[in-house]
Amino acid sequence: MSLMQQKIIILDFGSQTTQLIGRRVRETNTFCEILPYNKFPKDDPDVIGVILSGSPYSVYDQKAFKVELSQFMGRYPVLGICYGAQFMAYMGGGKVEPAGSREYGRAHLRQFEKENPLFMGFEPDSQVWMSHGDTITKLPRRCRKIASTDDVEFAAYASEEVPMWAVQFHPEVFHSTQGFQLLKNFVVDICGSRQEWSPASFVETTVQELKEQLGNDKVILGLSGGVDSSVCAVLLNRAIGKNLTCIFVDHGMLRKDEFRKVMEAYQGLGLNVIGVDASAKFFSDLAGVTEPEQKRKIIGRDFVEVFNAEAKKITDAKWLAQGTIYPDRIESLSITGMVIKSHHNVGGLPKEMQLQLCEPLKWLFKDEVRRVGHQLEMPERLIKRHPFPGPGLSVRILGDITPEKVRMLQEADDIFIEGLHQWKDADGVELYDKVWQAGAVLLSAVKSVGVMGDERTYEHPVALRAVTSVDAMTADWAHLPYEFLARVSNDIINKVKGVNRVCYDISSKPPSTIEWE
Ligand code: XMP
Repeated sequence: MSLMQQKIIILDFGSQTTQLIGRRVRETNTFCEILPYNKFPKDDPDVIGVILSGSPYSVYDQKAFKVELSQFMGRYPVLGICYGAQFMAYMGGGKVEPAGSREYGRAHLRQFEKENPLFMGFEPDSQVWMSHGDTITKLPRRCRKIASTDDVEFAAYASEEVPMWAVQFHPEVFHSTQGFQLLKNFVVDICGSRQEWSPASFVETTVQELKEQLGNDKVILGLSGGVDSSVCAVLLNRAIGKNLTCIFVDHGMLRKDEFRKVMEAYQGLGLNVIGVDASAKFFSDLAGVTEPEQKRKIIGRDFVEVFNAEAKKITDAKWLAQGTIYPDRIESLSITGMVIKSHHNVGGLPKEMQLQLCEPLKWLFKDEVRRVGHQLEMPERLIKRHPFPGPGLSVRILGDITPEKVRMLQEADDIFIEGLHQWKDADGVELYDKVWQAGAVLLSAVKSVGVMGDERTYEHPVALRAVTSVDAMTADWAHLPYEFLARVSNDIINKVKGVNRVCYDISSKPPSTIEWE
């Protein structure tokens, strides 16, 4: 995406909801960058406003993240959220004190300045979400109160003169019912966003940039069947056509018929794809291995070997493209210090190939990748796909892996997933679209007794897992309808040979993880 465009800078003070602020700003069709609190860009002509996030710290903590406000205050409109609001108060001569008790949860704006541009369109008693231990007891210089709740007198304050706005609550979370309106008021009306960031503009400028960047060079891309790599491929295909070669490795532990179906979908999109069926190699190297990390290591190693062998055949390739997206790259702050997430789609290509990296989706959030997929008219099923782990079903078979166990799991998983697609609510929305991720797990190390007809059976249980989540960092088990679970359970036990029991996993993450291994 061309960076010659308006942008909001979000300074991250370590809050869990900082990424959410970014996503909401993007939803106003405005580009934004999330940067560590101390990395405000010096001379960026595209900046139109600044947002300060919340933080796990109190302004009085020794380790509290502090920033020199004069870098941007007075130059751009600033919005402080929670800690951001407290920090600006503290630095500006106001007072912040521990609240009597932590204020957490719903509150209502009993009074607010109706004419304030931040609250344009706000309903009386608008619900907001609070989550703070400290509270502001005296406003900073030149500022006045613009909103209060029953418990928090300075729920929001402002000074048009600076200009700055500050809110004690979290407009970015869903439970602040008009929170999006507030962010939009700030970004569009106060900062003057022209709202030019859209999937259509992204596609247009990115294709143009890729053409310029890649010229007539050859590019290799590893496809996984997932949304990110697929959208990346279609975008590159638009820009450079047959100079893009995609490699899709079948390790034998994909979903039922997935390799064939995805290959067909890719070919339907006009992509130049080499499909490599390497399942025999993977099964043979995994034989007898039960330890989860060991399985992952073998699959990772074999994958690199197979991918590299294919990539090397494209002798004149200059670039390796990857579907890296923005959350993979955001430098996130942890309480123990700076942590930078690393991301590896393809683990280390041979050095002698000397490929340069091309990451056209690197500014996008996941939901934006999907919107770009729509813009590129990609098939709905490819765009909506749930995340699926790189090692595939191998981490959903407890114990060693055999082709027979994979077959059993593929059958059970297919019944579950197709069931989720077919079960629709009154508005026609599939149950599949209401969960973040779902799949079946074969408890192949366990056998239990059952009875079928007149016969006693002694076979394996299958566990079903479906979760809701926003980023896979935390997740809750999906509250699927009982009638749906009953039907799927019945189908699996009747149709999948070797399975005589179905359980539903009702663990959240943390303390459990999404995958069983
Ligand atoms: P957990 O099980 O850690 O999973 O809660 C979080 C998300 O990551 C996916 N996952 C993986 N993805 N390679 C991957 O590419 C892996 O080894 C792997 N393990 C877990 C998981 O499916 C979920 O979306």
